Amino acid sequence: MRVYREEDASLEHLQGKPIAVIGYGNQGRAQALNLRDSGLDVIIGNREDEYRERAVADGFAVWPIAEAAERADIVMLLIPDEVMPGVLEGQIVPGLDEGNVLVFASGYGVAFGKATVPPHVDVVLLAPRMIGAGVRDKYVEGGGFPSFIAVHQDRTGQAKAIVLALAKGIGSTRFGVVEVTFAQEAELDLYTEQCFGPAFGQVLTTSVDLLVEQGYPPEAVLLELYMSGELSYTMAKIAEMGLVEQSQLHSTTSQYGSMSRGMRFILPELRQRMQQGLDDIRSGRFAEEWEAEQAAGCPTLQMLRESARTLPLYRLEHQLRHTLRGEPIPPELLESAEAPSAAIAPEAQAAAEATSARGSSAVARGGLFSGLVSTLRGLLAPGPAAAPTGSLSRQQLERVLRRFCQLVADDPALQAFSQGRSFTSHYVLGDVGLDFFMRFGDGVVQSALGVPVPPAEVRLETSAEVLDGMLSGRLNAMRAAMSGKLQFKGEAKVAMSQQQVQNDLVRLYSQARNEVLGP
Ligand code: NAI
Repeated sequence: MRVYREEDASLEHLQGKPIAVIGYGNQGRAQALNLRDSGLDVIIGNREDEYRERAVADGFAVWPIAEAAERADIVMLLIPDEVMPGVLEGQIVPGLDEGNVLVFASGYGVAFGKATVPPHVDVVLLAPRMIGAGVRDKYVEGGGFPSFIAVHQDRTGQAKAIVLALAKGIGSTRFGVVEVTFAQEAELDLYTEQCFGPAFGQVLTTSVDLLVEQGYPPEAVLLELYMSGELSYTMAKIAEMGLVEQSQLHSTTSQYGSMSRGMRFILPELRQRMQQGLDDIRSGRFAEEWEAEQAAGCPTLQMLRESARTLPLYRLEHQLRHTLRGEPIPPELLESAEAPSAAIAPEAQAAAEATSARGSSAVARGGLFSGLVSTLRGLLAPGPAAAPTGSLSRQQLERVLRRFCQLVADDPALQAFSQGRSFTSHYVLGDVGLDFFMRFGDGVVQSALGVPVPPAEVRLETSAEVLDGMLSGRLNAMRAAMSGKLQFKGEAKVAMSQQQVQNDLVRLYSQARNEVLGP
């Protein structure tokens, strides 16, 4: 285990070497100011935008990117990863001389072959484990923050000494610097974003869903779990003292309870999923998928963002935040999180309207809160209107689905959706022993009862009642998945794309239901 500190780095290696910081955003500004305050010769390369004005206002000499790269010996790339390969190739590489140093702040481009570096320069990585604002604040306070460094190409034989000196210049060796490879930095970063973070998010949303459903006050649930800030305080203590040692800060009841029950959550499937996520990253599959997504204008990202905003939790958080500040809840936050609006229980709707009608004048906190509470209970708990009206017999459901499949296959909107796609969704209704599928392929839609051959890319397992609720528009699929009522297997991106035609599926299912069972 090796951690580089102040005594392992010398600013001597940077003397007489102008440094161009390309980009003056989160990291660019913080690193440039720190390097200048460490006595180094820093210029900025930036396109014509508001970041350029900020650099000028901070007293830097600012040049167009290509000119800054040409003037400097050390070029630090601090622009967004998505635009970096193009800027590098078009504006920076032409200005690099023999023995110059190219510094990345993320290993992604090089690790996944998206950024091409010329052979005649040093290529190093200096990646702070700290957001830009923290990089500057810690430096000014006299403290430090960790960074990862790496050497990808050592043309001069000095690459490591130079990157360590830069780490010292930005204030990182005051805390400690760890050497990795470009690939390790990129993969660890993506793993945290794609496995650790989402798994943690699921723990949180599942807990909220479960506890509210069991009748605990939503505002108490959110405060207990994370909105009090206690969790972030505990995380800071874990970073400072370690996971095991920090447990001393909690009561003995807490220590006994959490340690004795911890075993229940050792789930082999969790590890398997994390391994899958890591495999996706290391094989480059994620990088390819993300590149294609960007080339297409990020339609899936857009859809995922919209879906996230339909989660009851999204509204719940906003409502609680307004309430804690003693502010009235904006009316748009009191609308149903589900579509159509039948998802809010009638009494919750009434409470929502009453709360909203009280307007922005000095409303007693208690009044706001009680309105909030019943609204949120209506949003999250299975209120009367949210309860499945279902109770279809197996025979009825089979007839409805048979008609639904015919309508799906003939629907022009679904045929248009099917253009340029090729996937099958297989629905498995275990409780009634029914299967049906929808196959979308190049403008043609096939849909029928039964198991698809070949096997589908997406498999959704649920109950007859939940399916009926989802296809009638009463239940939100994300919420059903969150509460374990809908299990999904297969390609997430493909499954999410089907959300685009969710309204059409609801329309066709309602038509089939009306035709078969009457209005
Ligand atoms: P940012 O989004 O703050 O970058 C803004 C800068 O990029 C501005 O100067 C803007 O003029 C320039 N820019 C944007 N689009 C451009 C284009 N098409 N052509 C030329 N210049 C353009 O970037 P941020 O967040 O500072 O990230 C920079 C690098 O630092 C990335 O490699 C990132 O992965 C890495 N990093 C970021 C961290 C963070 O806290 N944000 C933490 C650690 C590493």
